[in-house]
Amino acid sequence: MARITASVYTSHVPAIGAALDLKKDHEPYWQPLFKGYEYSKQWLKENKPDVIFLVYNDHATAFSLEMIPTFATGTAAEFQPADEGWGPRPVPKVTGHPELASHIAQSVIQQDFDLTIVNKMDVDHGLTVPLSLMCGQPEAWPCPVIPFAVNVVQYPVPSGQRCFNLGKAIRKAVESYDQDLKVQIWGTGGMSHQLQGPRAGLINRAFDNDFLDKLISNPQAAADIPHIDYVREAGSEGIELVMWLIARGAMADVAGGAAPKLAHRFYHVPASNTAVGHAILENSN
Ligand code: DHB
Ligand code: FE
Repeated sequence: MARITASVYTSHVPAIGAALDLKKDHEPYWQPLFKGYEYSKQWLKENKPDVIFLVYNDHATAFSLEMIPTFATGTAAEFQPADEGWGPRPVPKVTGHPELASHIAQSVIQQDFDLTIVNKMDVDHGLTVPLSLMCGQPEAWPCPVIPFAVNVVQYPVPSGQRCFNLGKAIRKAVESYDQDLKVQIWGTGGMSHQLQGPRAGLINRAFDNDFLDKLISNPQAAADIPHIDYVREAGSEGIELVMWLIARGAMADVAGGAAPKLAHRFYHVPASNTAVGHAILENSN
């Protein structure tokens, strides 16, 4: 049986990828940010999964405004880094896991969630920056990755509660896969940020830290936050945080198991226009 061993939460700011790619990570502006991920890189080496199920959002890169799936599972054997306007990031291609991805799609759709099946797509900073933060700059990513894209760009977006429930369904799907695989689920995006309009540059430390507290200890309270509160309190792009609830919903305690262990928590402002949040939760199974 496959099982969810841990969940990882992290922001995905594109400038972080550029800082790494342009070797600016040792500059004073970036140093405190990358320091917060030192533990995480070591942790990932010591807790290497067989597969990462990576929840992220596409930023009108693979999907344009012509086609907007709410939830999309990448079932391909590989995914190339997207060209987001400055050429593709010089990072490894992403190797998928078509068998597990197809199994999860089958199970989750039968649990009444509508997923779009994507057999070909490029992956943007929403997916590659979290991998860079957690893995550094390897020749190849440490394991296969299943990209799971959520629409948080164009309204209407899914609610936090729906994302939390989807996480529960993903957990059931993983646990009904017949091979022994250690699966990590990552929730990415956030924390508070707004990129346009009169409120551009908005950061809300109090909201972000309260969200982290709830996410860790009382995830149902985080799932109860209405989407308008994210926009009001955390900025229009703060809504990306609903993706963290998919990962949290897949943890053991939500299904009646033991509370997860908090392995790491980090918060830093600023990174580009964004507050960066990060946490690692381990299941005890
Ligand atoms: C920034 C943050 C994002 O989440 C994003 O998708 C694009 C830009 C930023 O902080 O600049
Ligand atoms: Fe984003």
